Amino acid sequence: MKRDFLTLSDLSPDEHLLLFRRAHELKKNARQRTLEGRSLLLLFEKASTRTRISFEAAIGQLGGTAITLPTADSQIARGETLEDTARVASRYVDAIMFRTHGDERLKAFARAATVPVINGLSDGGHPVQVLADLFTVEEKLGETAGKTIVFIGDCASNMARSYCEAAPIFGFSLRLSAPEGYRPSAAELRGARVTANPTEAVQGADVVVTDVWTSMGQEAEAKARLNALSSYTVDETLVAKAAPHAIVLHCLPAHRGEEITAGVVDGPRSAIFDEAENRLHVQKALLEQLILRR
Ligand code: CP
Repeated sequence: MKRDFLTLSDLSPDEHLLLFRRAHELKKNARQRTLEGRSLLLLFEKASTRTRISFEAAIGQLGGTAITLPTADSQIARGETLEDTARVASRYVDAIMFRTHGDERLKAFARAATVPVINGLSDGGHPVQVLADLFTVEEKLGETAGKTIVFIGDCASNMARSYCEAAPIFGFSLRLSAPEGYRPSAAELRGARVTANPTEAVQGADVVVTDVWTSMGQEAEAKARLNALSSYTVDETLVAKAAPHAIVLHCLPAHRGEEITAGVVDGPRSAIFDEAENRLHVQKALLEQLILRR
């Protein structure tokens, strides 16, 4: 029976522990060719830098091969169904990463595929990124359980929604700071506290997280978003209110001067580039777990 990774809840808390343990091992010793002869399809309906490079590098370092296909270059763009694409691709490769828009597309694709499908970002979440974020928290602060993480800005985004899902699984407290209209639904909060005041939210926090205010596909709303979120910039003054050991995360790409200042991205609290690197290590562990069913 194949396992998909469409949301963080697709792995149990114990499986997440094992995944992080293995990712630490793989980070220390990158030369382990456990997926020799295996192949991974990377199917993109949206642009990518980190997801494409880190998954290609991950399967390559493990001895396997990546096949990258933007859907615009495929028969999907000419009307072939997602389901037929999934069925056919499953005959060629050992796993598929899919970056798409709506979660119904992701689920329909995964239902038709007979190999594991990984969510490489959808409207509802970005679970591989949040895995890398929490691995970075563990690496920098010792553990995620008991920590206070604050997400500032567009809290209806796929990143914030995956953070809401992650909090009870990984045992951290989550605070969200966003104006009305930029918050997850009450059902998605799962115990996260919400405030409109970013200064209040960030007090004593261990981790400060933000993301772009205009995600892919929201370009027409860019001006309205900029206006609504203009008092939610993660700057040096705001970060100074967090705990003295606090780290700052951003999944990138960053818009310096909008959701975060250049001084914070490039400053002493930033773990942003380690976070980007850790995509590679956690995804190697995830590919092993799904393909070898570890
Ligand atoms: N963080 C992230 O997913 O980056 P890309 O959009 O560049 O893949």
